[in-house]
Amino acid sequence: MPHDDRSSRTHPTSVQDIEDLIGKYRIDPEGLKPPLTSKVRGSSDGEVVLVTGTTGSLGAYVLAYLLDNPQVIRVYAFNRPGIKAKSHLERHIQSFSDAGLNLETLNDSRLTFVEGNLETELDDRFGIDQSVYDEMHQTVTTIIHLAWPVTMKWELSKFEPSIKAACNLMKFGLTTPSSYANRQETGLNVDQRDAEILMAPKRLPLSPVKFIFSSSILTAMSWTKTTTFPEEVQANPVYALGLGYGEAKYVVQRILQETPLNSTSLLMGQLCGSRVNGSWVADHWFPRLVTRWLPIDIAAWHLTELAMCPKSRKERYPQSITMLNPRPTPLEGHVRLTIEALHKQKLVSYATIDADAMVPPSVWLERFSEGFRKINSGRNAKELKLIAPVYEELYSTASTLIIRRARLRVGGAQTTSLDSQREVGFFGPFEMENIYQWSPTFREIQAISVEDIEGWILYWKKKGLFVGVSKDGGQMIRSKL
Ligand SMILES: NC(=O)c1ccc[n+]([C@@H]2O[C@H](COP(=O)([O-])OP(=O)(O)OC[C@H]3O[C@@H](n4cnc5c(N)ncnc54)[C@H](OP(=O)(O)O)[C@@H]3O)[C@@H](O)[C@H]2O)c1
Repeated sequence: MPHDDRSSRTHPTSVQDIEDLIGKYRIDPEGLKPPLTSKVRGSSDGEVVLVTGTTGSLGAYVLAYLLDNPQVIRVYAFNRPGIKAKSHLERHIQSFSDAGLNLETLNDSRLTFVEGNLETELDDRFGIDQSVYDEMHQTVTTIIHLAWPVTMKWELSKFEPSIKAACNLMKFGLTTPSSYANRQETGLNVDQRDAEILMAPKRLPLSPVKFIFSSSILTAMSWTKTTTFPEEVQANPVYALGLGYGEAKYVVQRILQETPLNSTSLLMGQLCGSRVNGSWVADHWFPRLVTRWLPIDIAAWHLTELAMCPKSRKERYPQSITMLNPRPTPLEGHVRLTIEALHKQKLVSYATIDADAMVPPSVWLERFSEGFRKINSGRNAKELKLIAPVYEELYSTASTLIIRRARLRVGGAQTTSLDSQREVGFFGPFEMENIYQWSPTFREIQAISVEDIEGWILYWKKKGLFVGVSKDGGQMIRSKL
């Protein structure tokens, strides 16, 4: 569960706010200090991966799949310190158990847990032990950056520490002995090198260090054109405006894409419950607003496959790769499947659902809020304090998207044939070609099925999400969380 913060958005972000942050954190690779040693270790022997955010839901699967891959010779699982003084191993046992993953994996001798703070200056080595830092710095081949506060409530400025953290990690990659040696070797002869691998406008040679950033389709929240959103980082921040979360991810994408790291930003949509055991963090649940849900374990598997490419130094990642379920389920389909799954689990009976179960999003939002009030009328202050942030998160995300959608419609946006491909929040549709090239089996991903939804429901049931449901499948579904 992410650390909570209950602040809410106060003022809308402007394009200038975004440009200011990009300007503040933009990296000049040539201005970075050279590494203490020029020794490059182990780069031809296999992949040495530094992955952040492995205590999270996606990170647990990514860590497991990395360790399942014989190409990987070492994994540094980098996380911030826990709030309850739990050891790293304990936190990973918890996240692996939650994800239905084999705990034996955590005993793998290739795995090193690292606890540190990416927000500190590079000179402070993220607050980690010098020898571990040096070893990581001299050997890393791939950085996968997943650590990020997943909240839709914050305005852009609240994400500034995370932007700084991402940039520090980029600097870490740019100053490794391998990156540095590569720049030195090729810097003077840059014009003779394959134009493909030269960075515009500075024409720096491509770094051998790969950097994969987990971004989001919310960076395209204000894309209202009738064409698909391209798999390129847009030069104009205007399309990212809408939610601080997406705006901040866009800032990182822009800065990353300007560096000579071999990088890509993954535009992921909503990741839903895993196909391993249905696990889906209850407060990430994004009620019915996104139609191209991708099971989180599947996203992790493809992300790991991507991280193992490219095979040659010249093969360069595209600027961004969109990862959405290739088989979208229309909104009505999700509702129907959910009702079916709830019925199968005896949490609701068909008889109790009125024929007109589908209501416009604004009505749904009102009912959601009213239902929450009713359910909580009997709770004590302590219980309410626990559940309120979860509700606020869901309400805030849903209302932002619904209000936005209504405004766009009122604002005269013509309904086009592309609208049926858009997410319900009315953004996209998205170009999606790169993932098929870099991870061809992505095409085979199946649509969300009633069994998937049953899996999430069983998982949530185990977590105590549903209480007070009558044996014959009465109407009331109550949330304990
Ligand atoms: N889940 C989705 O639907 C989705 C969709 C698109 C993109 N993504 C992206 O995928 C990544 C992983 O998401 P997830 O679903 O695994 O989220 P998650 O379960 O909430 O995990 C987030 C991870 O980031 C760490 N983290 C959060 N705030 C941090 C901070 N301020 N400083 C350092 N570490 C921090 C958490 O550490 P603690 O354990 O210490 O809290 C945890 O390891 C994120 O970058 C997210 O934006 C997710």
